Amino acid sequence: MPAGPGFWGPLVRGEAFKLNAARALERNAREFGDLVYLRIPGRDLLQFNHPELVQEMLVRDARHHHRNIVMQRAKAILGEGLLTSEEPLHMRQRRLAQPAFHRQRIAAYGDVIARFTTELTAGWKHGEVRDAHEDMLLLALRIVGKTLFDLDVERDVRRISDAVDSFMGFLPLAFLPFPEKWMLSLPLPAMKKIRRGRAELDGLIYGMIRERRAEPGDRGDLLSMLLAAVDDEAEAGVAEKDRRMSDEQVRDECLTAMLAGHETGANAMGFALWLLARHPEVQDALAEDCRRVLGGGAPSAADYGALQFAERVFAESMRLYPPVWVTARTAAEEYEYRGIRIKKGTVLAAPQFAIHRDARFYPEPLRFDPERFTDEAKGARPRMAYFPFGAGNRQCIGEGLAWMEGVLALAAIVQEWRLVPADESEPELAPEVTLRPKAPVRVQVERRG
Ligand code: HEM
Repeated sequence: MPAGPGFWGPLVRGEAFKLNAARALERNAREFGDLVYLRIPGRDLLQFNHPELVQEMLVRDARHHHRNIVMQRAKAILGEGLLTSEEPLHMRQRRLAQPAFHRQRIAAYGDVIARFTTELTAGWKHGEVRDAHEDMLLLALRIVGKTLFDLDVERDVRRISDAVDSFMGFLPLAFLPFPEKWMLSLPLPAMKKIRRGRAELDGLIYGMIRERRAEPGDRGDLLSMLLAAVDDEAEAGVAEKDRRMSDEQVRDECLTAMLAGHETGANAMGFALWLLARHPEVQDALAEDCRRVLGGGAPSAADYGALQFAERVFAESMRLYPPVWVTARTAAEEYEYRGIRIKKGTVLAAPQFAIHRDARFYPEPLRFDPERFTDEAKGARPRMAYFPFGAGNRQCIGEGLAWMEGVLALAAIVQEWRLVPADESEPELAPEVTLRPKAPVRVQVERRG
């Protein structure tokens, strides 16, 4: 077995109490090398800390793996959407959902992103202190509401988001050895909240599905695409109705995309704003570049290709603060890996947080430097030294939308506003399902002259 801190290691070092798993995995990588073995209650865990090993785990050996434990158990709430389903259902669903994320489709979302960003900043006052994370959560939520469901009404979007948030209450229970349906039925406040949230979401989403089925047509959102999708690759003889998604499957995919696409983007943009506030020289250069490209107007999808500096800033922010800080799997069977027998049930973890901060690939890893993402610099690193969107058959389906959202929103904001840190210290990190800040990210906003 490879080296590792052993079962008591994290406990002795106090990390089990601090519960900062992202930093604990980073420390394992620095102390024990590229492949680390540790025991967590009831299971073995293997941690992959080198881009080559990550490629093997996420791409080459994907056939040996199932979803991670949290995702497996989240099926009780999310059903069989893209995040939770296993093959072969996953591949069929991926095929059916893919057109909703094609380049032209995403381009149409560019104007939505720009409009909502401008509407958000229209409410800012010169000199006031904002919570950058909270602002970006609201922005990402509105963008997701519009692009997934054509929902303009903030109240509806809020209802969905509150319900989705209640699902996080299930997370601490995901590792307990009890059936999830039973845990969900317990009369505990957190479980009641989840049940209420789920009922609310089901009512809302099934209501929208009924409406759309009664009046079919493309409203430019994900829901239209899912309802219209027909599986052309199904075996001959499969009836037309079975080539389409059932209402239940559409509901699962909608909920999944909502969950996967909202907080990740918000975290990425929130940390990017904080980093820009802390690095005025980068921020001023970005503002100048955006003005050169946009001439003071609102950005659109057509500007995306020219906003390369904004793209590098967003990339560097997600290097330091990857919204998905670890990508995990469970071994579905026993198999041989580099001379080790990996037992069925072993947890396999590829920590973005540790690899993105590895000095072998990023000299002075804690320094914020968007020039690390010029084509030349990227070409000099192993491909998987950077994987904020994962890799292989489960790579993020919303990646194109996420880049468009981050780049256009940052450009629209920085072109008009100067960001100044209201607190000097780095935000404390809370690695939960996503990597989010523990407390408000306070940034002062000043209108640029
Ligand atoms: C900065 C923003 C985002 C980041 C960093 C991110 C990251 C990721 C990562 C790392 C995965 C792979 C998880 C794994 O391998 O287990 C993933 C999967 C996924 N993401 Fe994203 N994501 C972002 C935005 C979005 C958006 C905007 C959407 C949709 C609206 C979305 C929808 C999904 C879905 C459906 C999956 C599951 C794909 C599959 O298993 O086939 N994500 N995301």
